[in-house]
Amino acid sequence: MTTTCYDRIGELITNVPELGDGSVLGLRRDAAIVVDHGDGTTPDGTTVGEVVWVGDAGSAPDADERVDVAGRCVLPAFVDSHSHVVFGGDRAEEFAARMAGQPYAAGGIRTTVAATREADDQQLLARARSLVEEMRRQGTGTVEVKSGYGADVATEARSLWVARQVTEETTYLGAHVVGPEYADDPDGYVRLVTGEMLDACAPLARWIDVFVEDGAFDADQAREILAVGQARGLGARVHANQLGPGPGVQVAVELDAASADHCTHLSDGDVDALASSDTVATLVPGADFCTRSPVYPDGRRLLDAGATVALASDCNPGTSYTSSVPFVIALAVRECGLTPSEAVWAATAGGAASLRRTDVGHLGVGARADLTVLDAPSHLHLAYRPGVPLARPLTSTTAPGASASGF
Ligand code: NIG
Ligand code: FE
Repeated sequence: MTTTCYDRIGELITNVPELGDGSVLGLRRDAAIVVDHGDGTTPDGTTVGEVVWVGDAGSAPDADERVDVAGRCVLPAFVDSHSHVVFGGDRAEEFAARMAGQPYAAGGIRTTVAATREADDQQLLARARSLVEEMRRQGTGTVEVKSGYGADVATEARSLWVARQVTEETTYLGAHVVGPEYADDPDGYVRLVTGEMLDACAPLARWIDVFVEDGAFDADQAREILAVGQARGLGARVHANQLGPGPGVQVAVELDAASADHCTHLSDGDVDALASSDTVATLVPGADFCTRSPVYPDGRRLLDAGATVALASDCNPGTSYTSSVPFVIALAVRECGLTPSEAVWAATAGGAASLRRTDVGHLGVGARADLTVLDAPSHLHLAYRPGVPLARPLTSTTAPGASASGF
């Protein structure tokens, strides 16, 4: 058991109001925090520690080591609750064509399905590991990873096996797009997703997700797929209202999904439904950016209505090939109407809420010791200095003792 005191923190974001200034960010100036590195390990072999003390700089109890944070901002590591990092190939040409005026359509997913089927397990794992490492280097501590580029039993199961090597938050997204073999028999594909494919994938997943959209799955198919998954113990998530208005949000709320993701095109009824439910609205403005969507999700409207809002990268080769939560925070502030503080909360505590996790997304005593440090004095700099690599891990995913690097 090794303890570390991170001292002389200029601004500590705890997300626990009573630990700070009473705001939702629980902001505390001139602070210190003590972490017990523990000895547990996650599926990816990283160390899990926990926060054991939070207070004023210079007044922490004795710890085995002390790290001088020199006035920087420390916050909970980002909780990136939506990614698709298991895939083969890339779609740079498609992106370039879009930037030259071509529209985005759900069918583009099939390009990646073909490349993913061709890739072997080690190739898929190498890509997923490198993207998750890229996320961690930018301050993300928890990441959700979906299957969905297999669209057949073997490749969906292989994708989830890969996902399990890099995270505990794995999502079965067999219902991403109808597999090419079932182009003329979408109902047959739904039977596969709810039958043999589910049997192979459920043991490897915590969540089940459906892409509800024209060109993907409709409301009735989504209800059936999610209900069957829930009966197998999987929690529900939905890709909802990304490319146009539709039933995704209503289905998500009806089934008590943990999250409705995208939410770019919402009716007043959708906003009301989210606000009066436990379903988090997860905005992924990186996708709106990379698809050149004419509109961004209206986060202001959701927050004003009382919905819980999360932010995530949606890292994937088709619509959002970014691993950067800081970039997403900057976009959410500039384009979705969130204040810089709301965006930081959404990318930490909001992400945790969308994964129904209470151990991450905050830095109260007992929280998982996932700490991110900014080369900046305040969380405001995340949106104020877009594109600048300010965020990096302070602790948690490194071995004890390695945390002092850079200080
Ligand atoms: O979240 N919307 C569906 N799935 C991904 C994109 C998939 C793709 O185009 O490869 C998303 O944006
Ligand atoms: Fe997605």
